[in-house]
Amino acid sequence: MANDAVFDILVIGSGAAGLTLALRAADHARVGVISKGSIDAGSTAWAQGGIAAVMSKTDSYDAHIEDTLNSGAGLCRVDAVRHTVENGPKAIRWLIDQGVAFDVTEDGPYHLTQEGGHSQRRVVHAADATGRAVQTSLDEKVRAHPNITLFEHHMAVDLVQEAEGGPVRGAYIYDIETTKVLAFSAKFVALATGGASRVYLYTSNPDGATGDGIAMAWRAGCRVANMEFNQFHPTCLYHREARTYLISEAVRGEGGELILENGERFLDAFDERAELAPRDIVARAIDFEMKRLGADCVYLDISHQDADFIMEHFPNIYETCKENGIDITKQPIPVVPAAHYTCGGVITDLNGRSDIDGLYVIGESASTGLHGANRMASNSLLECFVFAASAATDILAKLDDEPEPPIIPDWDESRVSDSDEEVVVSHNWDELRRTMWSYVGIVRTDKRLARAKRRIDLLADEIQDYYGNFRITPDLLELRNLVTVSDLIVRSALARKESRGLHYTLDYPDLADEAVDTILQPE
Ligand code: FAD
Ligand code: SIN
Repeated sequence: MANDAVFDILVIGSGAAGLTLALRAADHARVGVISKGSIDAGSTAWAQGGIAAVMSKTDSYDAHIEDTLNSGAGLCRVDAVRHTVENGPKAIRWLIDQGVAFDVTEDGPYHLTQEGGHSQRRVVHAADATGRAVQTSLDEKVRAHPNITLFEHHMAVDLVQEAEGGPVRGAYIYDIETTKVLAFSAKFVALATGGASRVYLYTSNPDGATGDGIAMAWRAGCRVANMEFNQFHPTCLYHREARTYLISEAVRGEGGELILENGERFLDAFDERAELAPRDIVARAIDFEMKRLGADCVYLDISHQDADFIMEHFPNIYETCKENGIDITKQPIPVVPAAHYTCGGVITDLNGRSDIDGLYVIGESASTGLHGANRMASNSLLECFVFAASAATDILAKLDDEPEPPIIPDWDESRVSDSDEEVVVSHNWDELRRTMWSYVGIVRTDKRLARAKRRIDLLADEIQDYYGNFRITPDLLELRNLVTVSDLIVRSALARKESRGLHYTLDYPDLADEAVDTILQPE
């Protein structure tokens, strides 16, 4: 018996957070990076608008902090906001050093765009494909680094602890090609597995956003916070044949107007900031108007801007819409809200440390306190870079004192057999995501949440039973994690007896006097 691989740091996830941690640490540590898909399969590669940071002389840390706190509706942790904002410009400079080519202007170094909730232009970007630019540069650096071993198409199943609740010393990793479960040990493990928006039927997120890291950390004994705050992006392309595709908030930042089918603008009746109000307000207003009118969608119109300007700033959005028969230089874009971002997650400190020794959680899987009840646009990539850097520094400071990790027992599959009914998995996937969409969406009630809870409890029992009896597959692992995360979302939503930020319930439409985090603790 021997471990299949041994590292100083095992990073699970290869998006902005995971690759930043790997690169920040790799000159001084043996790093393993695993990804259940190809290296660029996470949300990072899909990010459009950009990265928020104070980069202009007319902007200030105080203004970025204030905007973030306002969006977070009373639930941001001020120290986390300050930590993120003050390390923002450094993070951008590091990305530039890694080769990321952000858009520049003739008069100032970087072109800054504007998005909802920001009182200033402060979003650094690479046209409308910022995530692709970042992911490509980091991928190249990671592949070239001699201390980093990359395992694509390897999926983490569960963390390995020294004893129940004890330090994390590795993880069981399912090799998707060979279907073998491997034992990887490490002095430190970092979960950077992204968000969980695939719990919803309609989402801007890629397939793998199934909350695996949140579910694994929960099973290992970590607390989670604020899971009820699911962000719905207001403007995803509405098209019967197209896969859900995001229309960046930067389109509104550059003058795009939301209109009804009859051409009427409507947002100023909901908020004086209109198109630049925070996302929760815009998504709710769209949901309200769609329900009031029985409409399938609303429209986002930027056709009044110069066509060259549109094509220069939004080349990918222009092309994708064109492929779907919409010329955005001439026509409004049909849009609907879709699940976009998981504001809650595994509770960490400013260095990404979780409740359990040896385990760090960074990026969208974490709840650092930055986002509160509603993440401000383009603050999430920033959080990935800043907290991954802090985690790397924290780990490296402890690395030499940490003993080599122990031998991990082999994965035991002596009591399971091959599944005879794969249809159970696909059926339950569908039922779960429809339940979440119908009963735990933008507008909630206790009755809808209770209905969701009953169905989720049943599904959880069935999935656990299936997991206990049959050999694992990637779909089964994701489903098991999705049902865990759905349960955490619904329990958190039921616990919040007020409407705050992204959690809006008709039963308690007002804000409570005191802003309190929803914290769930494993039994
Ligand atoms: P991800 O980039 O999602 O990476 C997760 C990684 O974990 C992947 O490599 C995945 O394969 C791996 N993984 C997951 N589970 C497992 C497992 N069990 N085993 C092994 N590997 C696993 N934010 C902004 O700040 N600005 C924007 O402009 C912006 N635009 C966006 C546009 C879209 C369409 C989307 C979907 C999101 C956008 N966001 C934006 C949000 C932002 O992109 C994400 O929050 C951020 O990229 C998350 O990075 P991450 O490193 O935490 O996770
Ligand atoms: C967008 O470009 O609208 C997405 C920005 C974000 O999610 O932060």
